[in-house]
Amino acid sequence: MTEPLALPRIALLGWGAIGQRVQATLRDRLMPGAEIALFARPSSAERLRRDSGLPIFTDVQALAAWQPRLAIECAGHAVVAEVLPPLLRAGIDVVIASVGALGDAALRADIEAAACAGGARPLVVSGAIGGLDALRAARQAGLDSVRYTGRKPPQAWRGTPAEQRVDLGAITEPTVIFDGCAADAARDYPRNANVTAAVALAGIGFERTAVRLMADPGVTANVHELDAQGAFGALQLRLQNAPLPDNPKSSWLAALSIEATLASYFHPQSLS
Ligand SMILES: NC(=O)c1ccc[n+]([C@@H]2O[C@H](COP(=O)([O-])OP(=O)(O)OC[C@H]3O[C@@H](n4cnc5c(N)ncnc54)[C@H](O)[C@@H]3O)[C@@H](O)[C@H]2O)c1
Repeated sequence: MTEPLALPRIALLGWGAIGQRVQATLRDRLMPGAEIALFARPSSAERLRRDSGLPIFTDVQALAAWQPRLAIECAGHAVVAEVLPPLLRAGIDVVIASVGALGDAALRADIEAAACAGGARPLVVSGAIGGLDALRAARQAGLDSVRYTGRKPPQAWRGTPAEQRVDLGAITEPTVIFDGCAADAARDYPRNANVTAAVALAGIGFERTAVRLMADPGVTANVHELDAQGAFGALQLRLQNAPLPDNPKSSWLAALSIEATLASYFHPQSLS
């Protein structure tokens, strides 16, 4: 990989399972020597300072004044809404992992306006799903339909509206727990919203993207299926994602997709 000219400052918003991995990858492989700082809630600032050994910011204006070249969000939807627009307006590029936040049309417009005002780039990761480059390309010639199907073991739907719809403990065959559009799926099943939003943004939008969520006793991991038809032909994709060892609710592929985004951001000359 070609070495970049100057070492940038990088801000990590969120230092959980994904944030810690991304920090280690930047330090060990992608940007050794770069200054990294964390953005934290005031209530966890001291603990994070001690555990990470990194500089901590709790105020977004102070973080912007530190002038990182890039801020990497891996914290949650609230951080996308509250922290990213001021950073973009200050000319700081951002990587967005909590893509589901972009299901809110007003926030999407706010992010785009802030990016225009600051001349900065919002980079949306593909996260736990793949095939989005093909969807984005295919839509140039018109897409007739895009369907996303998410399958999880029945017990993984505990604590969601699925509990009111079916008896999760009694399911013996694949059972539909939600069938609707990506906009309604994002509202009712926010934990799945990152993937459905990424599909909607790359393809035909939140209203036209069909979403089916299944409680499936035949799967042990989170399974994502994508089916698209259009003038380009047809696309079928099935991903069976291994969980992150440090957070079984997040897919390992989500962390890897952030790292892939960072590799092309910091090393644009590399062809591989
Ligand atoms: N695009 C995808 O497919 C995909 C997949 C998995 C996770 N994600 C997103 O990535 C995020 C991180 O995932 P994770 O597995 O590391 O979760 P995690 O729970 O392990 O870590 C999240 C961290 O963010 C911190 N945080 C929360 N609110 C904050 C705030 N207001 N300010 C600063 N820090 C805050 C938490 O303290 C925690 O340390 C998730 O919230 C999710 O939205 C996206």
